[in-house]
Amino acid sequence: MSPSHLRSGPVAPGVAFITGGARGLGNAIAVSFAKEGASGIALVDILDETAFAEGKAAVEACGIKCITIHADVTDESQVESAIAETVKEFGRIDYAANFAGIAGPLSSVVDTDTNAWKRVLEVNALGVWLCMKHEIKQMVKQESIVVESGRVDQRGSIVNCASVNSIQSGAGSSGYTAAKHAVLGMTKAGALEARSQGVRINCVSPGFLKTKLLEEEFTKATGKSMLGGADASAGAWSKFEARQGREASFDEVGDVVVLLSTPHGGFTINEMDG
Ligand SMILES: NC(=O)c1ccc[n+]([C@@H]2O[C@H](COP(=O)([O-])OP(=O)(O)OC[C@H]3O[C@@H](n4cnc5c(N)ncnc54)[C@H](O)[C@@H]3O)[C@@H](O)[C@H]2O)c1
Repeated sequence: MSPSHLRSGPVAPGVAFITGGARGLGNAIAVSFAKEGASGIALVDILDETAFAEGKAAVEACGIKCITIHADVTDESQVESAIAETVKEFGRIDYAANFAGIAGPLSSVVDTDTNAWKRVLEVNALGVWLCMKHEIKQMVKQESIVVESGRVDQRGSIVNCASVNSIQSGAGSSGYTAAKHAVLGMTKAGALEARSQGVRINCVSPGFLKTKLLEEEFTKATGKSMLGGADASAGAWSKFEARQGREASFDEVGDVVVLLSTPHGGFTINEMDG
């Protein structure tokens, strides 16, 4: 029998809304929420049905209801509709993770196409801002769910996706770096605005994880595959991993987002976890 002072019950019993949720880190976050007892999960992405089916199956394997919503985070009306659809299905949104993102061109400032640069800013910065805007609007309308008595009320929690590039940079990443610096800034401002209304906003800055994010642009820039065979980008990738100490797994990012989202982190706002 468990000692009575130990916590029991789900860590994250609310509804999670995750952009970029069909694959990669977004999907790992969804699975982490599912494992911690979320009552419903919405995966928002622009990928095709096959990718959505895979992402949804990973969540449903944990026995949690999951809906998929095709929406582009750079389109305000699609963001609003995605939120409305989630609320229609589950009644509320307790946890939002804004993880839709692209790498953009890996080229020097002088060699980068201006429209390609603008698109990285649109997806990675404007997209996060639009989601945050409409998530806050939804969350302030809700009452807090009670996870543990004695905790300060939390109407909702938002975790934005920053990056190591929110603090430092690398040659050939001016668009991505600018966008991720912007995410850090908008998280700080948003967190200070929303805290008085019971909404917490934080961001996480993952290191280097072998998702599909960089694959296409990396191949364009180097002619090599980043995720492919044994020799795939060994040079570049081993340098990245040396910087962070070891290879990271996607669920390590997923679990951090869940921990930041629950009222156990109730006094944490405006925080960036690497
Ligand atoms: N992988 C890394 O090393 C790393 C490091 C730091 C930060 N990040 C960030 O993590 C987040 C997730 O990326 P990932 O590494 O899992 O890569 P990923 O490419 O697997 O996931 C990104 C997801 O965002 C979706 N997406 C792209 N544009 C969109 C749009 N306009 N609207 C809706 N969805 C869109 C993609 O379809 C994809 O499913 C990104 O914000 C990325 O910048 C990744």
